[in-house]
Amino acid sequence: MLEKLTDPTYQILSRPDKSVLRYLDAIMASNPMHPVFYEIGIGIGATTLPVTEKMNNSGEILLFSREKDVRALASDLLERGYSNVNANWGSPNNTYSGYHFELAIGAVEKRLPMFDLAYIDGGHVFHLDAPTACVLKELCKPGGYMIFDDYDWYLGKSPTWSPAKRPATAIEYDQRQIETRHVKLVCQLFMDTDTRFEFVGMDSDTVTYRRLPDATR
Ligand SMILES: C[S@@+](CC[C@H](N)C(=O)[O-])C[C@H]1O[C@@H](n2cnc3c(N)ncnc32)[C@H](O)[C@@H]1O
Repeated sequence: MLEKLTDPTYQILSRPDKSVLRYLDAIMASNPMHPVFYEIGIGIGATTLPVTEKMNNSGEILLFSREKDVRALASDLLERGYSNVNANWGSPNNTYSGYHFELAIGAVEKRLPMFDLAYIDGGHVFHLDAPTACVLKELCKPGGYMIFDDYDWYLGKSPTWSPAKRPATAIEYDQRQIETRHVKLVCQLFMDTDTRFEFVGMDSDTVTYRRLPDATR
């Protein structure tokens, strides 16, 4: 998997998210022994790799993405000496399978640790990311962060998902869904209204929320 980071075909997926690395530094400064990081949607590991390097085998990294990708990336990281990557949360390739469901099952069975930082960068569509945000809010430690990528992204402007490029999109989604920014909708509905969380900033297309340190309920 990691070999793709230098393959020009995957250039669009080869840059790590700067906000994630910045907030991870803050977490590592206050909790260097056992930070817990979740990545929702791993791509080819562009963000996972520097996160893993920074954490340097402290704490735990849980990857939520398609299971074959999760296994391949965890295996590459293990080869580089990083053994704190949990590859148990990949999802099957079925149409309606996904990280939203793994998170729901993991939370209800109490098999998921509370996290310090979750980076949400998966499908960017409401039916996946709304339940994901709801589950993650309950797993976020007081003082922890939830970082959403692609706040302004929508299907209609995507070079790969727009109906002009992919006609199936116009069958699967109605016109409002094609024109709506789904991540923004999720944030407006579930993050901006939750008094346990504060908006801490937006960096290009990435928006960050922090759970208030005294928000225990
Ligand atoms: C934009 S990429 C993630 C990029 C990565 N976070 C990074 O910083 O380089 C989106 C990822 O979400 C995954 N994804 C999309 N829909 C999914 C679903 N329903 N279940 C699991 N993974 C999904 C894709 O397979 C892909 O790996």
